[in-house]
Amino acid sequence: MPNAYGFTRYGGPEMQQFLDLPKPVPGPDELLVEVYAAGVNPVDWKVRAGMHRAFLHLEMPAVLGREVAGVVEQLGEGVDGFTAGDPVFGTSARGCGGYARFALLTAGQTAPKPAAVSFTDAAVLPVAVGTAYDGVGQLGLAAGETLLILGIGGGVGSAAAQIARDAGIRVIGTAAAAKREFVESLGATAIDYDSGAFDEQLKTILPNGVDAIFDLVGGEALNSVSPVISPGCRVLTVADPETAARFGARPLSRTSSTKTLTELARRVAEGRLDPQVRSVFRFEEAEAALREVESGHPWGKVVLDMRSSPGH
Ligand SMILES: NC(=O)c1ccc[n+]([C@@H]2O[C@H](COP(=O)([O-])OP(=O)(O)OC[C@H]3O[C@@H](n4cnc5c(N)ncnc54)[C@H](OP(=O)(O)O)[C@@H]3O)[C@@H](O)[C@H]2O)c1
Repeated sequence: MPNAYGFTRYGGPEMQQFLDLPKPVPGPDELLVEVYAAGVNPVDWKVRAGMHRAFLHLEMPAVLGREVAGVVEQLGEGVDGFTAGDPVFGTSARGCGGYARFALLTAGQTAPKPAAVSFTDAAVLPVAVGTAYDGVGQLGLAAGETLLILGIGGGVGSAAAQIARDAGIRVIGTAAAAKREFVESLGATAIDYDSGAFDEQLKTILPNGVDAIFDLVGGEALNSVSPVISPGCRVLTVADPETAARFGARPLSRTSSTKTLTELARRVAEGRLDPQVRSVFRFEEAEAALREVESGHPWGKVVLDMRSSPGH
């Protein structure tokens, strides 16, 4: 019976398939977790396409997925602070393995899941929401300053908007016109990149430029906002370091620690942060879930609910 979803060779979506694999064995500083929910991210298809193979060496078949929430099944050597049966969430050990009934997590990148946070919300905190938290923090904006987020309608962008707003920062974001209401619901002002009035909106909304840009798209999307980039503007990118280098951008440095994850879960439990899980797919629909993300235009976050898997 299939218990994982992955790929047997690097390539396009046609390389993806359901797999029947032995239960993984946790190594030192790893936890084996029964997966209840798995986050779906752009990094998953990028890994499948071989874009990370220079620094991520995978044995085939490889299981997709970089983040999960579930219940601890077994502890690896040297793991403290967790017990079998604990609800947890965290980052997949060894760079992948989340779309599965059982997955390994890195202990230092795992945190207890508060009862007030659902498994589907917790599953998306390590990658997209964690990236948003690190990004907004590293831009170092003060309350009252203005942040422009390129690609505000996806997983990282929708979380970054809320984290920045929570810190008193004014947030503007670029998104497709269809997402205007969604962007406004995050407490941000929307600029439509596909309505034909982009330059005019940019000038009207940001006549004095911006204090910082968080770039989640790169390429032409970044070039198109050059009129509001003044010499003092801080630019941070997770999408396109090459284009962003022209604007003096810094790459993001990820923390991914238990401490960061605990802080994010606390904010979700307090109602200060909504991870915006907009699409929940059953395990059997893993192909459609990743297709939605690979389209490049998902709304908020996409999650696989593994509790629907056969035998769960
Ligand atoms: N380095 C890291 O640690 C790290 C971590 C997380 C993510 N990332 C990268 O960061 C990027 C964003 O990640 P994500 O998880 O937020 O992706 P996502 O959930 O797939 O969202 C991407 C968003 O970009 C928007 N978009 C596409 N073309 C656009 C354009 N021309 N202008 C404005 N918005 C546009 C889409 O919304 P519309 O419908 O509005 O087009 C979509 O919602 C990806 O490249 C990902 O690989 C890097």
